[in-house]
Amino acid sequence: MAGKTAIVTGAAGFIASHLVDRLISDGYTVTGIDDLSTGKLANLPPDFDLRQLDIRDPEVRKIVSEVRPDFVFHLAAQISVSVSAREPVMDAEVNVLGALNLFEGIRAVEGKTTKVVYVTSGGTAYGEPSVLPADESTPVRPLSPYGASKLAIETYLPVYERLCGLDYSIIRLANIYGPRQDPHGEAGVVAIFARAMLSGKSLTIFGDGNDERDYVYVGDVVDAIVKAAENSRPGPFNVGTGEGTSTNRIFEVVAENCGHTDDAVHGPPRPGDVNRIYLDATRAGKELGWTPKITLEDGLKTTVDWFRQQLD
Ligand SMILES: NC(=O)c1ccc[n+]([C@@H]2O[C@H](COP(=O)([O-])OP(=O)(O)OC[C@H]3O[C@@H](n4cnc5c(N)ncnc54)[C@H](O)[C@@H]3O)[C@@H](O)[C@H]2O)c1
Repeated sequence: MAGKTAIVTGAAGFIASHLVDRLISDGYTVTGIDDLSTGKLANLPPDFDLRQLDIRDPEVRKIVSEVRPDFVFHLAAQISVSVSAREPVMDAEVNVLGALNLFEGIRAVEGKTTKVVYVTSGGTAYGEPSVLPADESTPVRPLSPYGASKLAIETYLPVYERLCGLDYSIIRLANIYGPRQDPHGEAGVVAIFARAMLSGKSLTIFGDGNDERDYVYVGDVVDAIVKAAENSRPGPFNVGTGEGTSTNRIFEVVAENCGHTDDAVHGPPRPGDVNRIYLDATRAGKELGWTPKITLEDGLKTTVDWFRQQLD
């Protein structure tokens, strides 16, 4: 893919900044768009072409027409479930109208086919499915405005295909962890645990800790995103390991890596949290040739090492 141009939205964020690194090393010329609301400049290489802008800003369309990208990787989002419950209008403005603003920019570029890779959430799209692991035929039933706003864009993409021949792939992520994840958010239990344990702070597990999520290392996710870009199939593609891991198990492995010996304190469960979700990624295996490579143990070790370096 050398010589290709890409726009990455949310470039300074956790997942997108790893994608930026990968695209640059693969020879892409990359422009980032990010308002730095949760993303950090420190996540990006020096001299990176970052346009500090809200995804809803009309200027975004001008950047698209200036860059004329071969690929747009759309990861900028309001990602907090609880903020979405408090402020669903703002959540939809960023996640729905922001995406449409971007797509309108792409639509206005003449004589060029741009491929969009849309990164969304499988963990929140399926709600609490009765059959696990959930594959892409599982009925979607989001339980939060965030889940609904991210899902809404999946229905717009084929519409844009009809409107202007937009080429796209949809990636539905499970729970992602790795270096650069924000430990101050509400999600990202690995980052929260690692940071608290390494700083000697006490931490609370909401509920009994037997709830299960599907943890995928960020490097594997980047690999799936790049494979989707290179493939003509739209998906949606689940990106998960097919296995659930309990919060108690994550606590145990992160504690081992951090040398943390205190037991977990358990608090009341958080309302709205999904109890068990893990994703069947057979389709991504068959159509994209993607399977996760990094074991949970290796990924957690790398992540804890990174947090330790940050604290040092
Ligand atoms: N982390 C996960 O486990 C996970 C799971 C499922 C889906 N996702 C999706 O992956 C994407 C990246 O998530 P992440 O975990 O890296 O989160 P993140 O918060 O680190 O990244 C989001 C980025 O978007 C930027 N942003 C937010 N609002 C913006 C706006 N209005 N205009 C411009 N930029 C804005 C932020 O500054 C940040 O850099 C999101 O689309 C999210 O929905 C993440």
